[in-house]
Amino acid sequence: SWQYSLRPHYFKEYIGQDKVKANLMVFIQAAKERKEALDHVLLYGPPGLGKTTMAGIIANELGVNLRITSGPAIERPGDLAALLTNLQERDLLFIDEIHRLSHSVEEVLYAAMEDYALDIVIGKGPSARSVRIDLPPFTLVGATTQVGRLAPPLRDRFGVICRLEFYKPEDLVLIIKRTAEILDIAVDNQGALEIARRSRGTPRIANRLLKRVRDFAQVSGSHVISDALAASALDRLEVDCCGLDRTDRRVLQVIIEKFSGGPVGLDTIAAAISESVDAVEDVYEPFLMQLGFLNRTPRGRIVTEAAYRHLGLPVPKHEDTSS
Ligand code: ADE
Repeated sequence: SWQYSLRPHYFKEYIGQDKVKANLMVFIQAAKERKEALDHVLLYGPPGLGKTTMAGIIANELGVNLRITSGPAIERPGDLAALLTNLQERDLLFIDEIHRLSHSVEEVLYAAMEDYALDIVIGKGPSARSVRIDLPPFTLVGATTQVGRLAPPLRDRFGVICRLEFYKPEDLVLIIKRTAEILDIAVDNQGALEIARRSRGTPRIANRLLKRVRDFAQVSGSHVISDALAASALDRLEVDCCGLDRTDRRVLQVIIEKFSGGPVGLDTIAAAISESVDAVEDVYEPFLMQLGFLNRTPRGRIVTEAAYRHLGLPVPKHEDTSS
């Protein structure tokens, strides 16, 4: 699909995340020289920063097959056994949302990661017995938005742990121009920068906004996406100058209007805006914190003075929003 073709396939095409990239290139080269499977890799960070893309690149750079699955998709230990026994030597298994594995699957995964072996119980009751199946050496790449939700024994079995960060606008400009080239969209430097500024540090969002801005450009008869055109299209999509969308603003507004700016608990915020706790914690909160509009305190979330100013609201005089 087009999604797939937009993804970079090798590190030389991959823009941004320079530290992660440089380290992984060393570990990949070293494993290849030793003709060993790469150690297991944990990728974590907010959604849309390229965890799946990175897994694909690691597999390509290693020259091995990639199998993709997710925590919720592996329902029982037998499902995991089926995946692992079908791997070839040094293949890469990518498990997205690895924090959502069930306990019973997690337990089996420990031995698989550590000893390249499966301990499976066959049968029930008095005739039940445990058998050990040897596996080919393989690489597990796990991805999660919430590293803190991983069981420590699982986290400890990853030899390489990489945190993906929000992309800088300069990097997003390069990604937007690369995508524009692939999709044959004319965008000038200032137009690309305007989209980059409003893409909340996230390539997936940058690419989506680029396509929506192209729609506005086409229908208005403009041949090139300029900054003015990008700005007016993104205003119509209710993506503001900092990249906040309607839901981001609702998070801030509800804390201000219903809870006097906080502190207020995550569950309460999620309920007040009818979003899931996971979405607030994984998607909205990290970006609002990155912008300095929201802080986490032991007593809950509070909005900052900068958030009041961004929303054009008077900064409260007597509330303590600094802690
Ligand atoms: N498309 C999405 N993410 C990308 C990245 N990091 N580099 C190049 N193209 C991309």
